[in-house]
Amino acid sequence: MLRLGNLELDLPAIQAPISGYSDWAMRQLAREFGAPLTFSGLMLAKSAVHARLWRQGGFRLGEQERPLGGQLLGRDPEEMARAAEVLAAKGYDLIDLNFACPAPKVLARGRGGALLREPELAVAIFRRVRARVSLPLTIKLRTAFAEAGDGGEGFWRIAAAAAAEGVDGLIVHGRAVAQRYRGHADWGPIAEVKRRFPRTVVLGSGDLLSAEAAVQRLGESGVDGVVIARGAIGNPWIFRELRALLAGEPAPPPPTLTEVGQVMDRHFTQVLELYERRRAIGYFRKFCVGYCRRHPRRRKALLALMAAETAEHVRLTIADWFLRADGAPVERLESARESTAEEYAP
Ligand SMILES: Cc1cc2nc3c(=O)[nH]c(=O)nc-3n(C[C@H](O)[C@H](O)[C@H](O)COP(=O)(O)O)c2cc1C
Repeated sequence: MLRLGNLELDLPAIQAPISGYSDWAMRQLAREFGAPLTFSGLMLAKSAVHARLWRQGGFRLGEQERPLGGQLLGRDPEEMARAAEVLAAKGYDLIDLNFACPAPKVLARGRGGALLREPELAVAIFRRVRARVSLPLTIKLRTAFAEAGDGGEGFWRIAAAAAAEGVDGLIVHGRAVAQRYRGHADWGPIAEVKRRFPRTVVLGSGDLLSAEAAVQRLGESGVDGVVIARGAIGNPWIFRELRALLAGEPAPPPPTLTEVGQVMDRHFTQVLELYERRRAIGYFRKFCVGYCRRHPRRRKALLALMAAETAEHVRLTIADWFLRADGAPVERLESARESTAEEYAP
């Protein structure tokens, strides 16, 4: 069990905020396969009051979509507090403050990961938001700003202040801001946070691309929970696998090609409802790498999906490459010779 403020989650693994991906189409699938909490993407605090933002599929809550976390980006404490109030009014269940984002345009405006270099301002934001909303409040941090040399000074100051003032959770990504997504996440500092602040809920993030990796990191680091990001893109099954493994059961069999195809088809249908057609097709392509990763002819299936230019073509391609397979487990297909795999795909 994982407790974040008043939220009690029955799995210590949640779906990360993933800008450009975690709209309700993705979140719904993650939830269906077992994620106990999902996040929409990063929201610029000053945009929270704009009606246009709420018409987009990214931030709107779907039906029965609870609990849902929202994440705010900004550097003005009052703006952040106002945005948090908007999220609460819209029905969100948890608020996370982003002091981690490494995108150059975010850093140039002193937001996201840049706040690690202004720990007093970060703490002021935390205090102002905490005073204004009663929802569970978490903070997302990277472990340092510079790749070498700053010793994570700002990170430790923010973490210590937030822990002392009762933050509901620290979400720690084990990379420096300047590292962006390069190299490997360092779980040493993540485990160290839990050692230093044993009474604070700590969630680790970084390179949890499979259920096995997540279970191993949970055990080794002593954190209370983990956050699944890239590992969940085009792979909602990771939550089903996590549920089994953490219950001490054997890993469930991988999804059959048919099951993958059915999930893709449903996902694409929802994406078509959320976005205008041309955009929907480009948007859905981003998930196809994940969906194809267990396909015995991964590259060819992916190329076929990338080449599909109309919604009808996308559907036919899913049918050709996934649904017309005979339902054999991907694992079995994977071990088959390419010539055998020909039977399952064009
Ligand atoms: C495409 C993409 C978008 C992301 N968007 C966000 C975001 O909006 N907010 C956030 O806190 N982290 C974001 N992240 C970071 C992830 O939440 C996570 O901390 C990071 O990817 C490390 O986990 P992973 O290696 O398991 O993917 C994003 C990562 C990726 C790859």
